[in-house]
Amino acid sequence: MAVVKFSVIILVLLQQVFSIYGNCADFDGLKNCNDCIRCGGYWCNDPYEAKRCTISRYDNWCSGKEESVSYLTIEDEIGTHFEPKSRVRTLKVGTDDRFTINYPSESKQPKVELVVNSTQTSNFRVTNQTSCYDGSCTTTIKTSPDTNFCTVTGGPSEYFNVKMSVEGIKEEAVMKFHVPCACACSEKVEVWSPVCNGRGNLTCGVCTCKQGWQGTFCENPICEEKRGDVPCTDSARNNIECSGNGVCGPCDKCECFTDREGSRYFDKNNYCEDICMTVNDCDDCFLDPRPGRCQTCHFGLFRQSYNESLMAQKDDLNRNLWVKCNGTINDCNYVYAAMRDENDETFFMVIQSCDPTQEKQAGAVSVTLPIVLGVIALVVAAAATAGYLMWKNRPPPVPMSDPMYQNIDAEDCTGENPLYKPPTSSFKNPTYGKW
Ligand SMILES: *[C@@H]1O[C@H](CO)[C@@H](O)[C@H](O)[C@H]1NC(C)=O
Ligand SMILES: *[C@@H]1O[C@H](CO)[C@@H](O)[C@H](O)[C@H]1NC(C)=O
Ligand SMILES: *[C@@H]1O[C@H](CO)[C@@H](O)[C@H](O)[C@H]1NC(C)=O
Repeated sequence: MAVVKFSVIILVLLQQVFSIYGNCADFDGLKNCNDCIRCGGYWCNDPYEAKRCTISRYDNWCSGKEESVSYLTIEDEIGTHFEPKSRVRTLKVGTDDRFTINYPSESKQPKVELVVNSTQTSNFRVTNQTSCYDGSCTTTIKTSPDTNFCTVTGGPSEYFNVKMSVEGIKEEAVMKFHVPCACACSEKVEVWSPVCNGRGNLTCGVCTCKQGWQGTFCENPICEEKRGDVPCTDSARNNIECSGNGVCGPCDKCECFTDREGSRYFDKNNYCEDICMTVNDCDDCFLDPRPGRCQTCHFGLFRQSYNESLMAQKDDLNRNLWVKCNGTINDCNYVYAAMRDENDETFFMVIQSCDPTQEKQAGAVSVTLPIVLGVIALVVAAAATAGYLMWKNRPPPVPMSDPMYQNIDAEDCTGENPLYKPPTSSFKNPTYGKW
């Protein structure tokens, strides 16, 4: 068990080390200012500059657009014994600094001790060498932050401190090295910048593109390969190609609208077909007023009774779950609501139609009744003049015992239409007898 634990720890450590080295080994591969500075490079904020991160600057590189790193001016302070006794200085990752501290000493080989601490890793090289002559010593200190000194989360101002003490001297020399581990420009974000064609945010001259776009200026669409529909290349034909629910997009495919009624169901693989189109494909299913799965439809389509309170249901994006649709079968207009659930099963409920049996089944007894009745009357009038010969292949109408329907002359729509001949031969469903 102990062995297993040990090897796991080694693996984790190796991974961390490799990820730091892996980044910094390849300056051309460093794509943002923080990484570049962290690795000891120089960064160019100009998106047109071919080499954004470089270890050595050359003529004509990034004229005037180089990210400037704040440098602290060297400050030396002379102490009672040490000269200097304190020092502040900026040191870039990968560069080094060498300086001397002088002090009087009795000993020819005084014991020099260095204590170091840092706000980042301890990957900071410090060496010292002392030589004495005639009662005075000079300690030469060489310091250099390694390329992996900065952690990935380091900021523009990180520090490495070295404290030096010498046996027999009651004073400390303190050296403070400021190491930039990130860029100040990283704090400034130009949201949806024109430089990024409005498709990304600009930071330190780098576009972070929104989903579906790539390139230095977010100029290239990322095109999904497998799509069920055919190319849509002519934007003048947007409406035809994309069912009125989208436009020809940059990938020569329909891009469906996301903010329209029913956009939740727009089928991006199928010319942005909406749920009403899908359901209307199986409009035969409206003729059977019973709730449940429609047997004649080629996909899972279920009918249920109208429940007005369902119309208020929303999805996570505050879009209606139920979409209002309409359709016409045999000159009869249907207004219905449809939705698709996470199992890809589609449901519909008829809200209004010219057919009272449908209304009864739908249970539309609530506040919508006056409107329903108005629509029915209109439809009835239109249908009567046109010659009312529909309802093929459906069970015969049932005498309306429900007073609601008797009140409204709805009989005209069914039993009392003089042109109507009930096809009794198709009457098979025993449940209709209950009416
Ligand atoms: C751009 O910035 C805005 C505001 O911070 C943010 O909502 C959006 O997601 C950012 N876009 C990208 C592509 O990062
Ligand atoms: C209508 O739907 C709501 C919400 O799902 C439910 O609570 C209610 O019982 C339903 N009403 C009928 C009559 O089915
Ligand atoms: C269906 O609704 C649309 C939009 O409200 C309308 O333009 C269209 O005429 C309606 N069709 C029928 C058959 O009622």
